[in-house]
Amino acid sequence: MDEVPNGAIMLSGGRMTNGVIRVDDSVHRPITDSSEFVATLLKIFEERKFFGAPRYLGQADGMDILSFIPGDVPARFQVWEDGQVAAAGALLRAMHDATRGSKLAGRSPVVCHHDAGPNNAVFVRGLPTAWIDFDTAAPGSPLEDLGYAAWTWCIASKCTVPVERQAKQVKILADAYGLQGPERGVMVDAILERQARNARFWAELMASPDTAPTEPEVLASRIEWSRREFAFTAAHRSAFEEALA
Ligand SMILES: Nc1ncnc2c1ncn2[C@@H]1O[C@H](COP(=O)(O)OP(=O)(O)O)[C@@H](O)[C@H]1O
Ligand SMILES: [Mg+2]
Repeated sequence: MDEVPNGAIMLSGGRMTNGVIRVDDSVHRPITDSSEFVATLLKIFEERKFFGAPRYLGQADGMDILSFIPGDVPARFQVWEDGQVAAAGALLRAMHDATRGSKLAGRSPVVCHHDAGPNNAVFVRGLPTAWIDFDTAAPGSPLEDLGYAAWTWCIASKCTVPVERQAKQVKILADAYGLQGPERGVMVDAILERQARNARFWAELMASPDTAPTEPEVLASRIEWSRREFAFTAAHRSAFEEALA
């Protein structure tokens, strides 16, 4: 972490937002189009006693101010233990439940995080205990977040973990979430959908170079990665479905 002149600490490690800094026990993030939605969401979490997210503390000097959550935010995707995956599933469920039926969720069942990967989770004593980075949060279906979480917590085409083991962890995630019935039957479709959507997301950013958060080569590699993961999941669909059955 780099020191910045006013004594604040630059928080690097994120992939989207430049200028996130820590000042004492708070995090300052540049105001964006999603600031208002996120402020309302974080207030709902507080009202409904969901403690797995930062508190919203207001705005100053063009920045949103949030509480700093002590712990570790992993910089890279990696292989997680079963207990860590289960904790992520339970944390995702608790977050969704806290938004169910709220005005913010609108006609959707819940408010989704839409980027609930390990890189946006704060780990305490090895377990994910809070989500951060709600910039992409929006009304949605639980399967959107579950599909993305299953991918980013349990699946990797390039890793050495056998696909059966990856599939078992997808089951652990779904079980910890409490996913049942017809939605469980389309969990693999939800994973594939999120992988395809991810490729499209980075391609759309690449199409607008002036506002893209990083260089075209980096964006191209993320598109390539998303498509590779989609192909891997599709090729092993039956292994994932058997584990979930
Ligand atoms: N409320 C918070 N509590 C603790 N750490 C935080 C908090 N918000 C951000 N961070 C740290 O700052 C980094 C970047 O913030 P993040 O909101 O994830 O931005 P990005 O959009 O770039 O991913 C995170 O990876 C994390 O290490
Ligand atoms: Mg982030």
